[in-house]
Amino acid sequence: MSKVLYIKANAKPEGESKTFRIADKFMEAYKKHHPQDEIVTLDLYKEDIHFLTVEDVMVHMSNEVEEKENPMKRYALQFKSADKYIFAEPMWNLGIPAILKAYIDYVSIPNITFKYSENGPIGLCQGKKALNITTSGGDYTEGMAAEWDLCDKYLKTIMGLFGIFDYTTIRASNLDVIGMDVEAIVNKAIEEAEELAKTF
Ligand SMILES: Cc1cc2nc3c(=O)[nH]c(=O)nc-3n(C[C@H](O)[C@H](O)[C@H](O)COP(=O)(O)O)c2cc1C
Repeated sequence: MSKVLYIKANAKPEGESKTFRIADKFMEAYKKHHPQDEIVTLDLYKEDIHFLTVEDVMVHMSNEVEEKENPMKRYALQFKSADKYIFAEPMWNLGIPAILKAYIDYVSIPNITFKYSENGPIGLCQGKKALNITTSGGDYTEGMAAEWDLCDKYLKTIMGLFGIFDYTTIRASNLDVIGMDVEAIVNKAIEEAEELAKTF
């Protein structure tokens, strides 16, 4: 049995977000193919997550990993306890929505999700896997625009810091480009998601 964290980051509610349309279909198919797994959903806009305060920064630097009462450490320990991660977020201003960055700031705690060593950081979440389901108004898959993608690229990099190198992306691009068949693009991403859900 695997524990799956479904991490949703969008201010738009269910039914209005194209990203959630794709990701929810993935989860639906995933549950069908892995009925024994435990799924924990974190809708970040409904969680008690804020920008780091000075107190939070002190927690980040302290070595008391067992302080489960502290929200940052609670989220970090929860993150570490999972086997698989499904992220769902639109690209906002070339990056991830700030609420997702705030969540990463909570879970990125030395000696929980990674540690420092003489040879640099070592990930403490090795053997786990992540899927990022993301959408964007434009296309950042090729050429110069690929350099500008700090959304998927950032998540992939920070997962690497945690030792998670089994990382897959499903993206629906060009959703705000005039003349594009948006339904067809979203449906293609849903198909891809439902197929991956069988083996993820
Ligand atoms: C605040 C904000 C910033 C955005 N920034 C970008 C961007 O930098 N690049 C881009 O291609 N699309 C950008 N978009 C467009 C969204 O990524 C796109 O519409 C996406 O499909 C929305 O997904 P959703 O329906 O799940 O919210 C932005 C949208 C918003 C609301």
